[in-house]
Amino acid sequence: MSDRVDQLISDILRRIHEAIVENDVTYEEYQAAKQWFIEVGEAGEWPLFGDVYIEHVVEEGAFGNRSGSKGTILGPFYLPDAPVLDAPFELPHRPDEPGDPTVFHGRVTDDEGTPIPGANLDVWQADAQGSYSGFMVDSPEGNLRGQVRTDADGHYGVRTVIPGPYTIPLDGPTGKLTAAAGRSPWRPAHIHLIVSADGFEPLVTQLFIDSSDYLDNDVASAVKPELIVHPRPSTSEPGVLEFEYDFALARE
Ligand code: BEZ
Ligand code: FE
Repeated sequence: MSDRVDQLISDILRRIHEAIVENDVTYEEYQAAKQWFIEVGEAGEWPLFGDVYIEHVVEEGAFGNRSGSKGTILGPFYLPDAPVLDAPFELPHRPDEPGDPTVFHGRVTDDEGTPIPGANLDVWQADAQGSYSGFMVDSPEGNLRGQVRTDADGHYGVRTVIPGPYTIPLDGPTGKLTAAAGRSPWRPAHIHLIVSADGFEPLVTQLFIDSSDYLDNDVASAVKPELIVHPRPSTSEPGVLEFEYDFALARE
């Protein structure tokens, strides 16, 4: 393990040193960077910074070549132990939850298309204003979080609303660095899932709404074309949108 730590820290430091030399970093800039590190710690934003700027590379390295459906980053807003829902599998929400009502459904299979009964889909998302429950005060506890199981044929269905795009906090050090670099602070509208079943690798992923802004400019660089979904008016329920998505899991 210490060889691994030595290898990684030496490589990271060498690359930082090279960037300092190549960009003629000044003492003032070094002191400003130290102050920024302190502020990220004080604001509790290291997980946010990591998930915005680093996680996508780790995810692609770890899972980019895995069989089955594409994964993407977990992000900082997952909460374990969301309620296990009963049919008809509607994510908990406010009585007047804003946003377009939506149903999405599909199948969970292995990577050869054999259905997996009893697979678990742990689902969480921002509301239509981009707020995640448990992290932002304007979304009530447990809002738009729940776990859903596939039936005997591997089918699942989830009733929810279309989420809004989300901006990382603009007044914290991660947002200030993002603004100072002239980058967009937005993530496109997306629904998070962890799809799991005994004997299979858990799939951590997100489904991106095709009509959302920022699909080609995600601050967290987590969009993959295979993960963009196309909600369309339901043919059976007026006023409701609908889309399909099948998940294929890789064996352990
Ligand atoms: C998100 O999925 O909401 C997220 C991911 C990375 C950083 C911030 C938010
Ligand atoms: Fe998210």
